[in-house]
Amino acid sequence: MSTKTIRPARTLQGSVTVPGDKSISHRYAMLAGLAEGTSRLANFSTGADPHSSIACMEALGATVVRKGAGPTATIEVTGVSGAFREPAAALDCGNSGSTMRMLAGLIAPHTHTFTLIGDHSLTLRPMERIHKPLSEMGAKLELVDGHAPITIRGGPLHAIDFATPIPSAQVKTAVLFAGLQAKGTTSLSESIRTRDHSEHALRAFGATLTRSGERLSIAGGQKLKAIDATVPGDISSAAFFLCAALLFPDSNLVLDSIGMNPTRAALLDVITALGGRIKILNLEEHHGELIGSIQVNRGATTSAAPLTISGALTAQVIDELPVLAAIAPYTRNGLIIRDAQELRVKESDRIALVAKNLRAMGAELTEHPDGLEIPGNQSLHGASIDSGDDHRIAMAFAIPALRATGDTKIQGAEVAGISFPEFFDSLDLLAQR
Ligand code: S3P
Repeated sequence: MSTKTIRPARTLQGSVTVPGDKSISHRYAMLAGLAEGTSRLANFSTGADPHSSIACMEALGATVVRKGAGPTATIEVTGVSGAFREPAAALDCGNSGSTMRMLAGLIAPHTHTFTLIGDHSLTLRPMERIHKPLSEMGAKLELVDGHAPITIRGGPLHAIDFATPIPSAQVKTAVLFAGLQAKGTTSLSESIRTRDHSEHALRAFGATLTRSGERLSIAGGQKLKAIDATVPGDISSAAFFLCAALLFPDSNLVLDSIGMNPTRAALLDVITALGGRIKILNLEEHHGELIGSIQVNRGATTSAAPLTISGALTAQVIDELPVLAAIAPYTRNGLIIRDAQELRVKESDRIALVAKNLRAMGAELTEHPDGLEIPGNQSLHGASIDSGDDHRIAMAFAIPALRATGDTKIQGAEVAGISFPEFFDSLDLLAQR
């Protein structure tokens, strides 16, 4: 386990790129694996999680060629033209809930036996949520007490009309991927609209989806064709730097080519409400996804009340909540997070770990079953941070550390590699000391 020491900084300045979006990389990897032809995926995430999806595609018969290294790498995936082969061994999803849940829907219509396994953290995460809709479609899934390992005895599926009980883009995607290959037209409605990368990706690969109000429909039996695509930068990785910019009066950062999909970009409104000044430069669209560069510095907070993140907004910024909470003590009026019970079943119990680490840095806060209340205008000191083997916790606490008194030691910092292996190097380049 490696420890990363974060020293306080005077300010943050400069320009940075972040890895390709993790959510989009997973979807492109999986659909390219199923499609006919060779897809060329530029700026594919350098994080370990999307590479778990790529490795599963190889095990299922896709051919993968990696060209170049690091952020300029391109991945070429030649798909199986609609027919996965039976893998020789269990499909290892590593730490990736997205891989396990979305892949289950993608492979369930194929007449083979599959076993999906993952690391310790993934084995603790709830999988019943995909079991229910997929078995309604006729799939045979065996779970161990609601968890991985999952055994799937695949075969022909039929369409369903499904209402998602919890807001989850991964569950929605599992149903859409299965529906694409089922008999009949599958419909799905969400109580709270979640990220729509699967809808854009399916259309990019040539599928037809329709939306009527909150109801999404996909006809079965559609074939996919390979694409050339550039993955936008990950706004959830950019979030660490956006939050860091709020901590210093003379900060000035430019984050290049960031995905600005409206189902993810509510974060920018939150940053503005917390006193950030944001400019979007060079906005473009690529396969339905918006991409732009973000310039951020610190302006003034106008409101005198704490900012509340609840309801639909909580689902829209779910992955950014750890870093928003981590800097909340430095905001003028504090932060209230509610309706975030899903945070307790992510890569770690993120509510408990954020509370524990903030307290270690000397913060006052109140923990609720579904969130946190963190007063503003507090001072923090350096501390030893427990990453809990969770990439977003390891990175989140490097940000308040920049303004703390004394050094902060992030234990298990290497876990950042799950989504952003270059994170600590990029932070060192931007931080002026
Ligand atoms: C993701 C959806 C969210 C998010 C996760 C990635 C996706 O999870 O937290 O990091 O790519 O669809 P849920 O679907 O469990 O809400």
